[in-house]
Amino acid sequence: MSTPIDLGRPVSGDVIDLILEDHRRFETLLRDLRDSTSDRDGVRKALAALHVAHAEAEEKHVYPKLQRKDAITEHEAEHGEEEHAEGHEAMLAVLELKGTDTQAFDDAVEELAKVINHHLTEEELTILNPAREDVGEQVRAELGLAFATERNQQLDADCGAIDNVRRIVKAAEREGLLDDEEDEGSDD
Ligand SMILES: [Fe+2]
Ligand SMILES: [Fe+2]
Repeated sequence: MSTPIDLGRPVSGDVIDLILEDHRRFETLLRDLRDSTSDRDGVRKALAALHVAHAEAEEKHVYPKLQRKDAITEHEAEHGEEEHAEGHEAMLAVLELKGTDTQAFDDAVEELAKVINHHLTEEELTILNPAREDVGEQVRAELGLAFATERNQQLDADCGAIDNVRRIVKAAEREGLLDDEEDEGSDD
């Protein structure tokens, strides 16, 4: 028996506040995922839903707008998308495991935490700070509405379902978002 995990349903607000609230949710869910006494299966499902919904909303609305406002560069937006793709890949590895009380599960959680924590830190430093400095309140409120709307639509569509996460990882592979630096592919 599992209690559905509350991921929040903001409908508006300053986009920076909304994103930071989600980042704190990621940290709480990762802590719960490490805890062997918690409902790890429920937590991984909630984390997958939040990860997809949050990343899709950032990529569809936040990154493009910040780029148009010259707050971030195209390279920074692309780098953010690559880190989202790495997060989806690591999330999928956690979802694909049958049991949640194995060494394989712990290893997959460790990798997931590493990837997500890295991205949260980098995004707050290199994307949210310029957004604070270069984008006015009105635009941040408009972006907050767009972000929240997309995020909630994704959650309603069960975006963390394993089939959807598999689809997203496959698409990211095709787009070259998961290519390692040592890869020699140079087709883009
Ligand atoms: Fe974020
Ligand atoms: Fe992000």
